Amino acid sequence: MGHSLRLALCATVAATSALQIPFLNSPSRTHDQVAVQPSEKPLINSTAIQEAISGDRLLRRAEKLYEIAKLGQEEYNHPTRVIGSAGHAGTLNYIYEELLKLGDYYDISNQSFPAVSGKVFESRLVIGNDVPTSAAPMGLTPATKNKEPVHGDLVLVKNEGCQSTDYPTDVAGSIAFIKRGTCPFGTKSENAGRAGAIAAIVYNDEKEGVSGTLGTPSPYHVATFGLSGDEAEPVIKKLKQTKRVDAIAYIDAEVGSILTVNIVAQTTGGDPENVVMLGAHSDSVDAGPGINDDGSGSLSLLEVASQLTGFSVNNAVRFAWWAGEEEGLLGSDYYVATLPEDENQKIRLFMDYDMMGSPNFAYQIYNATNAINPNGSEELRDLYIDWYDEQKLNYTFIPFDGRSDYDGFIRNGIPGGGIATGAEGIKTKKEQEQFGGKAGDWYDPCYHQLCDDVGNVNVTAWVVNTKLIAHSVATYAKSFKGFPKRTTSVVSEAYVEETKYHGPRLFV
Ligand SMILES: *[C@@H]1O[C@H](CO)[C@@H](O)[C@H](O)[C@H]1NC(C)=O
Ligand SMILES: *[C@@H]1O[C@H](CO)[C@@H](O)[C@H](O)[C@H]1NC(C)=O
Ligand SMILES: *[C@@H]1O[C@H](CO)[C@@H](O)[C@H](O)[C@H]1NC(C)=O
Ligand SMILES: *[C@@H]1O[C@H](CO)[C@@H](O)[C@H](O)[C@H]1NC(C)=O
Ligand SMILES: *[C@@H]1O[C@H](CO)[C@@H](O)[C@H](O)[C@H]1NC(C)=O
Ligand SMILES: *[C@@H]1O[C@H](CO)[C@@H](O)[C@H](O)[C@H]1NC(C)=O
Ligand SMILES: [Zn+2]
Repeated sequence: MGHSLRLALCATVAATSALQIPFLNSPSRTHDQVAVQPSEKPLINSTAIQEAISGDRLLRRAEKLYEIAKLGQEEYNHPTRVIGSAGHAGTLNYIYEELLKLGDYYDISNQSFPAVSGKVFESRLVIGNDVPTSAAPMGLTPATKNKEPVHGDLVLVKNEGCQSTDYPTDVAGSIAFIKRGTCPFGTKSENAGRAGAIAAIVYNDEKEGVSGTLGTPSPYHVATFGLSGDEAEPVIKKLKQTKRVDAIAYIDAEVGSILTVNIVAQTTGGDPENVVMLGAHSDSVDAGPGINDDGSGSLSLLEVASQLTGFSVNNAVRFAWWAGEEEGLLGSDYYVATLPEDENQKIRLFMDYDMMGSPNFAYQIYNATNAINPNGSEELRDLYIDWYDEQKLNYTFIPFDGRSDYDGFIRNGIPGGGIATGAEGIKTKKEQEQFGGKAGDWYDPCYHQLCDDVGNVNVTAWVVNTKLIAHSVATYAKSFKGFPKRTTSVVSEAYVEETKYHGPRLFV
């Protein structure tokens, strides 16, 4: 695996040098040959590339993507582009074919990697006589024994269940009841399994429910639910009064490993030692076609990549379409983790574009700062601020907390940032004044659902943000003047401490 991986990674670089070195060394170079160089194209111009972005073209691509998502129907009974589905394979083919059409402007490479994917077919939790409405199986949870309901007493685990000594002996054969906090959900589930629990429930330390994931599978993981603090409270009270509470837990699920693919395209022109990088994720969740999440970002990138071919660039531009984002940033993590140090240093910055046209949108900028994030992250943040200001558009800051594919870059010292338009967060009154739409509703009412279809994008917002993506590419493809040089690849403690997400789901 290590080998094929290395090859895929270096493909871009190798191909670039192969194209350039013979040309530069050629002693028989004539004026005629110089005249047909691609640099005859005008140098990238932000205004001009922004003018080329059109809502019609984006919308046509969205319609195409929805048709592709329908390929997932046979296996999933509804359109989806989740990794491993025909809808995702179709998405990868579409991106690849569209890039091939752009001729030799780009070197395209595939990076194949193993991805853990989990599927929950059915689940049910009954505590005493109640069916808690907030009970949600954790991502990548295994099934209960024999995919059958299990019955047992709830046993309150001490502290936050991060140490084996927190588990009383009567957890064996029972259902561990564990408080959220301190260590990842996966560690709690593993500890419960080692202590002989038949299932585990992690209850929130806040009122609401927990949408979490166990992360990397362990043979000791047991079937695990998340539960809201509200619904846990009466249960904890009873258990503390040493009253007996029994429960029935049932999860029918499968966790498996598949191969999936990141697609990376880099301009053959421009300085490959100073790379402008940007990415979006090619996959959706299994519940739906993912046209806003993240069909929108993926198609924005494709459109910008396509319009960029009208220009020459000073710095190389590298586009990435990540797979397995929804399973926990698998593709982008893998990409950064396997980058040799000298390749890491060539990436001057990484820009993340996930969910560009939420129907009840806000123009959101990740609050990336140089105090906590690699030097340059704040300059990128300020580029977005300046642009919205110039367009006389309002914007808000949102936490830069590991929810999307920038995470691996920041953790490996590469400056990063990005923009978004909102997922399952609730629009405030103030934001309604700033952006229109409806206060009290989710920014994307179809987030991670079947209705994330072509009707689930606000084309106005999508066009605005695609122009901003084009502007970000144009700015850095032209020059890194005033942008901090790369230094360390060391991760800041402060970032790690503040990060509770790894992808769309909480892991701790
Ligand atoms: C960039 O493009 C715009 C619009 O097409 C044009 O007005 C402007 O002169 C161009 N700028 C440069 C420096 O070429
Ligand atoms: C890269 O992946 C795409 C999408 O799966 C596929 O169509 C293409 O043939 C692959 N190319 C190579 C060189 O493997
Ligand atoms: C942005 O992050 C900085 C550094 O963490 C913090 O001081 C500031 O309050 C944040 N701003 C907003 C608007 O969230
Ligand atoms: C920006 O927000 C203010 C309210 O804070 C609002 O009055 C104004 O119309 C908004 N501007 C735009 C372009 O929506
Ligand atoms: C998209 O947002 C704009 C600006 O808020 C609004 O005027 C328009 O009606 C929205 N479009 C749709 C289809 O909701
Ligand atoms: C960040 O970059 C700026 C501008 O290049 C430089 O002056 C500053 O010393 C850098 N800060 C750190 C902590 O490296
Ligand atoms: Zn997403």
